[in-house]
Amino acid sequence: MRGGNKDFMAVKKRVLSGMRPTGRLHLGHLLGALNNWVKLQEQYDCFYMVADWHALMSEYEDTKLLRENSIEMTRDFIAAGLDPEKSVIFIQSHVPEHLELAMVFSDITPLGWVERCPTYKEQLREVKGRDLTTYGFLGYPVLQAADIALYKASAVPVGIDQLPHLELTREIIRRFNTLYGGRLFPEPDPLLTRVPKLLGLDNRKMSKSYGNFIALSDTPEEIAKKVAGMITDPKRIKLSDRGHPDICNVFSYYSIFSDQAALDKIRQSCEGAKTGCTECKKALAVALAEYLEPMRKKAAALSDDDIRDILRSGDKSARAAALETMAAVRDVVNFA
Ligand code: TRP
Ligand code: SF4
Repeated sequence: MRGGNKDFMAVKKRVLSGMRPTGRLHLGHLLGALNNWVKLQEQYDCFYMVADWHALMSEYEDTKLLRENSIEMTRDFIAAGLDPEKSVIFIQSHVPEHLELAMVFSDITPLGWVERCPTYKEQLREVKGRDLTTYGFLGYPVLQAADIALYKASAVPVGIDQLPHLELTREIIRRFNTLYGGRLFPEPDPLLTRVPKLLGLDNRKMSKSYGNFIALSDTPEEIAKKVAGMITDPKRIKLSDRGHPDICNVFSYYSIFSDQAALDKIRQSCEGAKTGCTECKKALAVALAEYLEPMRKKAAALSDDDIRDILRSGDKSARAAALETMAAVRDVVNFA
């Protein structure tokens, strides 16, 4: 923003979003969130955050990679097109006010709201091998509400899975505004990122724990190897069998970067049994590597010092906004 026309900037709506640094970013993050975050930079005043406190909540037993993941995630952010000249890119734990506001929100959030949160119940049920029955993890959405309110964001780009957290955020903010007589915080709207779900390489849900993804930082060789192992139309055994692109995961990967004309062509040669699956996958691997190449180059060109500089300046801008909000919060709750 920074440097832009102030009066104009003041009317831009504020956006905040974040991701947990739990590993390398992959195609799912790019298509499900990052590409959209990049676009929003043109229209909104954007704050993008490395949510390391949220990572700690679920990964507290093993934090060996946390620092590296935060730095590499920032690198991937920039490589994907987040621009530190346009957006504030920062680390959540570098702005201590997140916790101050989370504490205020904790005080006004009924236990039932967090206990009933569907994502909480689902995680307790589904996450194996880690004990998530902690005091901190129960408060996951309360901290998320604080992340959003701290910057008075009125729009939050998220996927469908995060909608319960957004709803809870709105309720907590409504309660705060009612209790402390004012409209200090706007009730944020979700900006739903609607994307066709891209499955993992093995046709299961794309997930860090399955290791079935293509990372933004994968080399062309790694991509070729991963794509070669993809499952295709199971009914197509011989080259002369007609293929069914609509049930083939390889075809859905083509749709990431292909226009309609190109897709029609692939469909025709598949349905007409003109191309074999091995050939089809080889071509996909080449095209995917080409699609990711600019990002890989950009990521490689950034030194660790560059990343630290970007974060230092982002942390500073975020902190300034956060301090201002917290001063107002302290005032309305009548802290001396
Ligand atoms: N919970 C979000 C996720 O897992 C990450 C997150 C933390 C977030 N704080 C946020 C997203 C604030 C949007 C706004 O994806
Ligand atoms: Fe899938 Fe391509 Fe094989 Fe058709 S030719 S089934 S799209 S891999």
